[in-house]
Amino acid sequence: MQNQDLVQLAQEFGTPLYVYDAEKIISQYNRLTKAFSKVENFKVHYAVKALSNVNVLKLLKNQGSGLDTVSIQEVHLGLHAGFNPKDIIYTPNGVSMQELETVAQLGVQINIDNLSILEQFGTKHPEIPVCIRINPHVMAGGNANISVGHIDSKFGISIHQLPHILRIIENTKMHINGIHMHTGSDILDIDVFLYAAEILFDTAIHFKSLDFIDFGSGFKVPYKKGDIETNVEEFGRKLTKRFLAFEKEYGRTLTLAFEPGKFLVSEAGFFLAKVNVVKQTTSTVFAFVDTGFNHLIRPMFYGSEHYIENISNPKGKERYYSVVGYICETDTFASNRRIQEIHEGDILCFRNAGAYCFSMSSNYNSRTKPAEVLWYNGKGILIRERETFEDIIRNQIEVEI
Ligand SMILES: Cc1ncc(COP(=O)(O)O)c(C=O)c1O
Repeated sequence: MQNQDLVQLAQEFGTPLYVYDAEKIISQYNRLTKAFSKVENFKVHYAVKALSNVNVLKLLKNQGSGLDTVSIQEVHLGLHAGFNPKDIIYTPNGVSMQELETVAQLGVQINIDNLSILEQFGTKHPEIPVCIRINPHVMAGGNANISVGHIDSKFGISIHQLPHILRIIENTKMHINGIHMHTGSDILDIDVFLYAAEILFDTAIHFKSLDFIDFGSGFKVPYKKGDIETNVEEFGRKLTKRFLAFEKEYGRTLTLAFEPGKFLVSEAGFFLAKVNVVKQTTSTVFAFVDTGFNHLIRPMFYGSEHYIENISNPKGKERYYSVVGYICETDTFASNRRIQEIHEGDILCFRNAGAYCFSMSSNYNSRTKPAEVLWYNGKGILIRERETFEDIIRNQIEVEI
């Protein structure tokens, strides 16, 4: 899609606005499946948390994707979108036994990441197949918040506790049909993936009735020009070779699964915001936009650098700007960034706004959430209405005070 299309969508639907390019999502999906085309049973479970609009889920379902979910609400979203429960994996962290049982009753594949629940679940429901999330103790991921497979991480069951896991299985006679890990997001080096994969293979060999091995995710996408990205094709070649060898050792074919979020939807997203005020101070030129960390928190939360372009003045001379929001706290999207000359009323476009952007938005400062548009077959289709004041007040109960 072109910049003029984005400007037009901002005019038609107003700002702030999230726009998702369906074609990009589909091409990323195809790129990943092609990279693993030599694996007989390859499955992608899209990580719903990245971008959970039901239309995006349906789009991915049409490509043949399954879903990775982390809450019962995400499971319901997936079922609502028409997914077969068997194509949904549920990988929660620290949820109650009751939530896990409810999801399992829906026919969804559950993934357990602690010994306590594993033992309770196996004792009560030995007939329900369960996947186990392993913590391989690998330090991976772009920053501390998204590095989840290291030794101090709260995620997964430590590989050093493998004897405990095997004892629970022996005692309960429960059926383990999958082994899983997810070491973090934004992993720069494919050797880290491959190293962690070896640990997973070493673990998997101890389980006699597996159907699948899930390698989680962590594919890095470029956030700005010249940025590193995971070489998915090279990774596909290397892991495929290793996986096929493991299948031989294991004695039968298995499904190789991944659960990418960012890889599939990050680059497909554009966040459009209007410049309310240009403020020149003694040291800085601030461009204040009609949004804040209530709508896009990644720069403040993770220090992510989203490429920002002035799509109202694409040929303008570049100057240095600090792009800031309207929230009553420091909410800096970019500091002293070179952007085409900005005037009040211009539309700025934030790139890589597909993953963990709308889905992490809030109503802080009692601001309403933006609308979402899907760019599909050359047309912008509204897929979420802009919130109104009614949405802010809806669940509040006014009592006599
Ligand atoms: C268990 C699990 N799987 C998959 C993902 C998706 O990761 P990414 O968006 O980096 O692909 C995450 C992200 O937090 C996760 O926690």
